[in-house]
Formats: sequence, C-alpha cells, structure tokens
Amino acid sequence: MHTVTLIAGDGIGPEVAESTIRVIEAAGVKIDWDRVDAGSDVMTKYGTAVPDFVIDSILRNQIALKGPISTPVGSGFASANVTLRKRLNLYANVRPAVTLPGVESRYDNVDLVVIRENSEDLYSGLEHYVIPGVVESLKIITETACLRIGRFAFQYAKQNGRKKVTSVHKANIMKLADGLFLECIRRAHRDYPEIEYDEMIVDNCCQQLVMKPEKFDVMVMENLYGDIISDLTSGLVGGLGLTASANIGANGIAMFEAVHGSAPDIAGRNLANPIALILSGAMMLIHLNEGEAANRVQNAVKKVLAAGVVRTGDLGGTSSTTQMTDAIISEL
Ligand code: NAI
Repeated sequence: MHTVTLIAGDGIGPEVAESTIRVIEAAGVKIDWDRVDAGSDVMTKYGTAVPDFVIDSILRNQIALKGPISTPVGSGFASANVTLRKRLNLYANVRPAVTLPGVESRYDNVDLVVIRENSEDLYSGLEHYVIPGVVESLKIITETACLRIGRFAFQYAKQNGRKKVTSVHKANIMKLADGLFLECIRRAHRDYPEIEYDEMIVDNCCQQLVMKPEKFDVMVMENLYGDIISDLTSGLVGGLGLTASANIGANGIAMFEAVHGSAPDIAGRNLANPIALILSGAMMLIHLNEGEAANRVQNAVKKVLAAGVVRTGDLGGTSSTTQMTDAIISEL
C-alpha cells in the first residue's frame, strides 16, 4: 500500500482525478489517497491558495498526484502551481511527447522529452512598476539551478536509454542569463560524454520542431521556454488531453500532473479527456516502483486510442470522460 497526496484541483481537475484513481485501482495498485485542496476555494477560507497542510501532506508522503488549478490572469493570487513547485523545490519538470496510435496528428514519429527548469527565470514573480507606465520583470538565472537541471537532463537521458540532449536558449540576445545557462549545461555534459549534445536558439527550435520533430530526443531549457515549447510538443502528438508530466525535487519529492490547465470551457460537463492525468498517474507508478502496472495502464490507453471507438471531444469524438475511463478499465 502506498500513500499519495491527491490535489484534485478545480475546473476539470476533480473529473480527471477521479478517472485516474479508478484506473490505478483497476491496475491493481493499492493507494491510500491523502486528499487535500489547493487553489481559489481554500484561498477564501485560509487566505492562501496553498495552505501549510498541503505542503505538510506532500512532505510526509513524498509523492503527489495533482489536477489542474486555475490562476487568475493579470491580478489576484499567485499561481498555486508555481507556489507548490517553489515551496517543494520541484526543480525539474519532465514532459514526454510521444506519438500515440490512432491519434490524428501531423506526425507519426515523435518521441521526445522536454525537461524544463522549474524554479527560476521569469517565474521569480519579481515585478514592479519603475514609474507609472513602465514595468520591470526580473529574469533570475543561477549557476546552481542551471547545473542542477543540466545534470538532471543528462542523467535522465542515460537512465532512459536516450541518445541526445539539446539545450534550447536565446543566448544571442540574453548573453549573460542564457549564456550562463548554456555554460552550465556544457559543464554538466562533461560527465556524460556518451550522450550526444547540441544547442539550438529557441525561435529556430520552434520552427525545427514543427518541421522535423523526429530530430529531437531530450531537450533541456529554462522555465519560460519550457512552458511554451512543451505545449507545442503536446500539439505535435495530439494535444493537451494526452500529455503527462512529472515535477521532480532534489529531496526525493515528486508531483505528477497533466500539462493541461483546468479547461473552464468544458469543466463539470463530463467532457474532459482523462488520458493526460492517467498517463501522469502511470509516470507516478513508475516512480513508486510499480513499473509493471504502469506498463499495463499505458498499454490499455494505447489500445483504446488505437481502436478509435471511444474518443473525447478533443480527439474529434463525442465520448464522455466516464466512457473513456470505462474503456481504459475494461482494457485493463
Ligand atoms: P487549458 O489547458 O485549461 O485549456 C486549453 C484548451 O484545451 C481549452 O480549450 C480546453 O478545453 C482544452 N483542454 C485542456 N485540457 C483538456 C482535456 N483534458 N480534455 C479536453 N480538452 C482539454 O488552458 P487555459 O485555458 O490557458 O487555462 C485555464 C486555467 O488553467 C487557467 O486558470 C490557467 O492558469 C490554469 N492552468 C493550470 C495549470 C496547472 O494546474 N498545472 C497548467 C495550465 C493552466
């Protein structure tokens, strides 16, 4: 029996979280879910979107599964997602994008992983008005965080039988900040000579990804580039409804979540595709040394997608969240 913190989130979060719990149970893994809430609902009650009991639960259990949490745009409370990543020091965000059978997309040969630095960059939250009409927003890049993410990327490549790591940057313009990033990744590479390494400017990288995604293997980048590029790579393999992610910390803590947000346009209507969170759950099972169950979950998802009978709206079908979940469970 494992104990895992569950933050169901808001919007479509509770719907896809319930699907994931059912699928993991059907895969035969016993989990005691330690349910806690974060986001706007607890904000009104506790005055913070991430109360201490949420952090305490994750510190205690060392592992969490999280649904999406909405963040107000332009004003209001700071992102609960960013707060969680910062407070738990979840410095590496791992987002695989792999072609899935039966899913209509422009390519049939994508197999890459975006590794996004999760702790600094323009997400430092340091913004202020210099004078009315002029805002300064600070991009913080440190040697410690860049070396750490560089080592993580090469180690990930080595452990997962990957061949190449590509650094994505804009060091031609941000010569100091992105220059430091590149220098650190090159230093990290010295300990992994068996892994091929190259570098690409972020704008060119977007173009190459759209033209020739099969050229990419593991990609490592700062926080903002990673945020944007990983949505692009989701789009290469069929969209946000299918893309999983892991947030990994220095202290053994890990939090698994879908790449997508709370999708307010379809929330509460049993329309969301639960696969992104279910595949995040499979990544979590691997972390829990339940690799065999993870494999079975991934294969069940692939079979349902390949059959093409049950499809949620984002995949061009009319099936509900529940129907998709039931189909995956019956494959299991
Ligand atoms: P979003 O990912 O929620 O939605 C973008 C589009 O994709 C929408 O049309 C939505 O219906 C669709 N979509 C997303 N997930 C889907 C799924 N599982 N099945 C079917 N369709 C799906 O992005 P958006 O609209 O930019 O953000 C909405 C809210 O979510 C915002 O408050 C944002 O801050 C928050 N958010 C939270 C994240 C997290 O908790 N990690 C990540 C991204 C956004």
